[in-house]
Amino acid sequence: MPVNVEDWEQIAEWYDHKQGDGGDLWHRALIDPAVFRALGAVSGQRVLDLACGNGYLARRLARQGAQVTAVDASAPIIARARAREQQEPLGITYHVADAVHLGILADGSFDAVLCNMGLMDIADAEGAIREVGRVLRPQGRFIASLCHPCFDLETASAWVVEKAGPTTTVWRKVSRYREVFEEQCTWNVGPGAVWRTRIYHRPLSWYVRALRAAGLLLAALEEPEPTEELLAQDDEGQWIAQVPLHCVIEAWKLAETHA
Ligand SMILES: C[S@@+](CC[C@H](N)C(=O)[O-])C[C@H]1O[C@@H](n2cnc3c(N)ncnc32)[C@H](O)[C@@H]1O
Repeated sequence: MPVNVEDWEQIAEWYDHKQGDGGDLWHRALIDPAVFRALGAVSGQRVLDLACGNGYLARRLARQGAQVTAVDASAPIIARARAREQQEPLGITYHVADAVHLGILADGSFDAVLCNMGLMDIADAEGAIREVGRVLRPQGRFIASLCHPCFDLETASAWVVEKAGPTTTVWRKVSRYREVFEEQCTWNVGPGAVWRTRIYHRPLSWYVRALRAAGLLLAALEEPEPTEELLAQDDEGQWIAQVPLHCVIEAWKLAETHA
């Protein structure tokens, strides 16, 4: 089993409940709108949802007419995704597989690969990106949302709120940006209960190099802005309006001769 997946398996039930069928607040009202803008029209396209969790985005893509395959290394979360598929069949094929070893999927068999908030959780993200490059057809697209490598490091970044008279200034402080390192990500899984998974920080340039090594060329980078829904429901939305905590990258698979 890949590093970190055992920890994810322990919280599969909680994570399935958290994401439900439409994604939690931050996914639904902050990250997903930018992801769907980057994906564009998917009807008729072969789309892979990598590190799919409970498959809420896979279902959304299938409802838009995509032919969806979805993969996660956690067997219990895939069991939950399959149960949702059984309740509302959308023709999604689910696999339990390590993103780094996708031998079940043929070379060049996808028009688009989505990895939503997954690369930071994958210990060998370079290996996973290499597999994305293999399974995409030439000119296929890779869309990945991430914790923003510059501003959202689990313990090496924080908000600083400075009050001076009537003025409040919110700063984002960051340390250890240039290093590649592992941290613990803390999830509040119930009243007074926390669970920890591993999360891997890599600087932005690391991702661009890993993409390029896999024959993928960075085409766009978005920094999702809070929607009205987020601003209305979470005070942190105002701060995110100033400093983004996520980014969405879009990369294109080069023709073989340029890889
Ligand atoms: C933060 S969740 C994101 C899930 C989903 N994409 C979403 O947006 O709700 C990260 C997922 O990565 C999966 N994961 C971690 N390492 C993996 C690996 N090596 N291969 C495939 N999936 C992996 C975990 O099981 C977990 O479901």
